[in-house]
Amino acid sequence: MKGLLFVAVASTLVATPVLAQSKNELIEHGNQVFQHWCAPCHAPGPRHPGTQALEVLYKGSKPAALEQRTDLLPEVTKVFVRNGVSMMAPFRKTEISDADLDALAAYLAPKE
Ligand code: HEC
Repeated sequence: MKGLLFVAVASTLVATPVLAQSKNELIEHGNQVFQHWCAPCHAPGPRHPGTQALEVLYKGSKPAALEQRTDLLPEVTKVFVRNGVSMMAPFRKTEISDADLDALAAYLAPKE
């Protein structure tokens, strides 16, 4: 019986920090997801096909690099990531999980 109680208390202690994950940690995780999956095409500068395509598309009316955008609402990022667009293939949940996508979308979202 004592053992069970210990397990119950210990798991509460372990679970709490995860639930209380701060927004900064979420955004930092989103940054890592972006650098891994998106930066090869969307980092600033030449030789990045995503950045180049968006430069042509927006002709300077919006920044070509996604991390410099201020209009990428989380819903918008999620639709593009799950559906893809043009030569950008959709990402599966086995590649970017829903939790990773939440973090990624928070990272790209307009700063409050
Ligand atoms: C293989 C290269 C490639 C990768 C990897 C890639 N993208 Fe893209 N992405 C593109 C291209 C090219 C476009 C522009 C398509 C077009 O011509 O409209 C684009 C467009 C977008 C757009 C639309 C922007 C707009 O205003 O129209 C978003 C949002 C986006 N990508 C997000 C992401 C995110 C987030 C990731 C990482 C999970 C990612 N992309 C990974 C190539 C890529």
